[in-house]
Amino acid sequence: MSKLIIEGARRLKGEINIQGSKNSILPILAASLVAGDECVIHNCPRISDVDITLKILEHLGSKVNFEKNTVIVNSENIIKNNIPNLLMRKMRSSIIFLGALISAVGSAEISLPGGCELGPRPIDMHIEGLRQLGLRVDEGYGALRCSNEGGLEGCNITLSFPSVGATENLIIASVKAHGTTVISNIAKEPEIMDLVAFLNSCGAKIECRGEGTLVIEGVQKLHGAEYTIIPDRIAAVTYMSAAAVTVGDLLLKNVIKEHIGAVIPVFEEAGCTVQTNSKNSLRITAPTRPYFNRMIRTMPYPGFPTDAQAPVMAMSCLADGTSVFVENIFTNRYKHVGELLRLGADIKVEGRVAIVEGVKRLFGAEVTAMDLRGAAALVVAGLGAEGITKISGLSHIDRGYENLENNLGLVGASIKRV
Ligand code: EPU
Repeated sequence: MSKLIIEGARRLKGEINIQGSKNSILPILAASLVAGDECVIHNCPRISDVDITLKILEHLGSKVNFEKNTVIVNSENIIKNNIPNLLMRKMRSSIIFLGALISAVGSAEISLPGGCELGPRPIDMHIEGLRQLGLRVDEGYGALRCSNEGGLEGCNITLSFPSVGATENLIIASVKAHGTTVISNIAKEPEIMDLVAFLNSCGAKIECRGEGTLVIEGVQKLHGAEYTIIPDRIAAVTYMSAAAVTVGDLLLKNVIKEHIGAVIPVFEEAGCTVQTNSKNSLRITAPTRPYFNRMIRTMPYPGFPTDAQAPVMAMSCLADGTSVFVENIFTNRYKHVGELLRLGADIKVEGRVAIVEGVKRLFGAEVTAMDLRGAAALVVAGLGAEGITKISGLSHIDRGYENLENNLGLVGASIKRV
């Protein structure tokens, strides 16, 4: 079993190039199935969730070529409409293939994705919206069998909550529906807008109208396209947190500052200087000791992102002051807390609320990552801790972070995988 060994309390200084967005590339790869042609996608991060997505595409009949950070997918000959349980269960976001298969071949047989480390994660909103579009969905024996002989019919759908995955599934499903689909109360995350831009570059007709509404005019056919994925805003926040606990000075390249608009002020209030005046880059300079005395409520975009909660909490552990986190998106997203306590943090959790009293020092210990962003939090805490931190459970990091230890090593961290 591999581990990350971090010798902490070293100053980080230098440049890091931010990877392409995990949560953009996954739905865009699924949507490339609907293009039915060759799609060339740049800035694709080399992470294990992408590998699983590409395996699903290959299983369905797509031809895939992945070199450096460019992936070429050709889905001219889709030969299957089913995804094996083993592949479905490896990655919760594989549910996005439901809308893609319906749009591409008119039917889908997939196993239910099940819960995950963040909570039960139902897909009721996905199914309800797809049924409104006329999809026949049979559920049973842990699987979904869906078909739409004659095609989906555009309609008006209002989501009861701006779910990212449900919005993505419904967009992909309705690009080729008959007539017009209007989806209201959509998720407004940048990754949704990236998916819309990709599909439009493939010939879809999707328009953002007003606050939280998308209008989709169904088209008969899409075509291939060349597209570049947006940068990963959560990777950027992770490196900002790492800078904040190491008196760091990092220049992060390939960052869209508007995408982290709710997070930058948090670092500024903590005493960091965040310069965003040069195009697509951000420089963060941390004080000797951050000051953190505030409330953080995770919210749908443009609110504070749930995915940033864990790394920012790790930063708050080493700051002066008391902070209160309220996790409003997922029911079980504090698994990193127990591990942060092992490093000497002072955190109390009650339901959705976590109270962090900053401590003067953290001390290296053996800890285990339980989920992707929790893993990032442990890396941040390990970088700020005195002594040696050993982190296991690295498969979680590999799901979403490209070259994490190399990037950190190049800016002065003592970090290695053994
Ligand atoms: N929900 C339902 N019913 C549904 C759909 C969602 O109750 O039909 C609930 C979920 O259980 C959850 C909340 O709504 O409590 C939000 O879920 P959402 O559908 O918005 O999230 P998701 O699509 O499953 C994506 C990201 C997550 C990110 C969330 C929120 C991808 C692949 N995943 O998940 O990313 O936290 O949106 O922004 O895009 C991560 O990158 O670490 C990660 C977990």
